[in-house]
Order: sequence, then C-alpha cells, then structure tokens
Amino acid sequence: MKIFTTRQEVAQYFTYKTGKTTGFVPTMGALHNGHISLIKQAQQVCTEVVCSIFVNPTQFNDPKDLEKYPRPIAADIAMLEQAGCDILFNPTVSEIYDDDEKWHLDIGNMEHLLEGKFRPGHYQGVMQVVNKLFNIVKPDMAFFGQKDYQQVMVITKMVELLNMPVKLVMCPIQRETDGLAMSSRNVHLTAYDREHALILSKTLGWIKEHFNVDSIPELQQQAEQMLNNEPGIIPEYFEIVDGDTLKPVTAATKKVVALVAARAGKTRLIDNMLIY
Ligand code: PAF
Repeated sequence: MKIFTTRQEVAQYFTYKTGKTTGFVPTMGALHNGHISLIKQAQQVCTEVVCSIFVNPTQFNDPKDLEKYPRPIAADIAMLEQAGCDILFNPTVSEIYDDDEKWHLDIGNMEHLLEGKFRPGHYQGVMQVVNKLFNIVKPDMAFFGQKDYQQVMVITKMVELLNMPVKLVMCPIQRETDGLAMSSRNVHLTAYDREHALILSKTLGWIKEHFNVDSIPELQQQAEQMLNNEPGIIPEYFEIVDGDTLKPVTAATKKVVALVAARAGKTRLIDNMLIY
C-alpha cells in the first residue's frame, strides 16, 4: 500500500492514472470491520481503492471529544494492508486547512435536524472536509456507511449542489454478533456501558417488527420508554422519519428509517434501521 501525507503526492500519483476507476473511503481512522466492509465493497466495483485517515477538527463541536478521539495509526495501517487497500492518504491538519479558513454551504434544514440539533455545525465541518478530500483524491465513487445515515444524505446534497462528478454508495451497517453497531467510539465503552448500549439496536429491531402493527406515535412512545428504562443510557433522540427527506412520514413516503442517538456512560452512540 502506498502512503501519502501531502496533497501534492496524491496529485502526482493520479497524473499517471489511466483508465482506472478510483473508489474512495474517507475515514477518521480507528478502523474496524465496518470500515473494512467499505473497502471490500469499493474493491468489488473499482480498480483502485484510496482510504483517507484524517481526524477532522472542524466537525467536532466538543474539543474534549476531538482530543479523546482514538488514533491507533499503526493498527489502522496494518488493517488496510491486510484488506488490500491500494493507497492511504493520511494528512496533517495543516496540510488540509489554512488558518482561519471559512466554509458554509446552505443545504436547508437537513443539517439542523436530528444529529444537527445536538451537534451544531457538525455537518458543515463534514461537508468542508469531504469537499476538500474529493477535490484532492478526485474519486469516481465514494463509499460511506449507513450508520451515519444523515451524513450520507448531507453529502449527497452537497454533491448535487456543487455538481461534483462522484457517485456515492451507502453501505450497510456492520454489527457485532449481539447487534451493537460497529463504531470507532465503541472502544470507550466500559463492560457495563457495552451491555446496556445493546438497547439501541434492540429498540430499532422492535420498531421494525411492530411497524405494521402499531401507529408511528405509538411506536415512538414505546421506543422512548424502552430507551428511558435502560440503566446507564441517556437518550438524545429517537425518530421514525421519511428515509429520503428525514421529515415526518407522509402518504408519499417510499422508505422509512428509525434513527437513535444516546449516551452510554460517557460515550455518545448513534444507530439506525431501515424500517421498510
Ligand atoms: O464518517 C466519518 O468518519 C467522517 O465524518 C468523514 C466522512 C470521514 C469526514 O471526516
């Protein structure tokens, strides 16, 4: 695997690219099998796969969260080598950002819903860095995990608004055998948090099972009760919404998604499930 740390190295490498389809998997590192599944999916449809590892400061609204974000770079490189990734782009913050750089793209209300309510500015930071990374790597296709469902929708909107020539692919959530969605943040869970964190996927599963039985307000209430009753869990939101707009379900809704965020001890977790 080639490892590049500067934009120039990436640009130079791609000068000689002929007839290759580049698949891109942007990450913040602390890789797990969820990320590797994105690499594998990219390998199936692209001739060359680039992964980036960059802990993007502009998408963290809590400096403590940024500080404690796991950065096991040696283990990450080993996992990427093992997965057969072709190129790793691992820049420093100053390679990506100038001092006091400004960014804003109006994508309407989508950035203020759900995660946006709890993490103001988060999606502007995500769009800022993904826009930069797309401009550096110039991928034909980019692969994102469904676990960050709203993030995929936000990036889709940016790509549309800026007419970016990249095809986005959303890949299924990877779960541990007991149902916990894989996440880089899971390393922070104590055994107690880990056990009680299972209520997120259990609640989503319960809602999916009962979707055609109970009404949405009834399901919503039941989900909130399940989450509130779980020791050690502080729910932030649980919403059942239109999977294309993230707005309330209407008669025109084609797919429904349930999304949840909660704190398990000191760790903030998110999860979601397509209900139909
Ligand atoms: O999902 C992530 O890991 C990050 O939000 C991303 C897309 C790599 C941007 O920093």
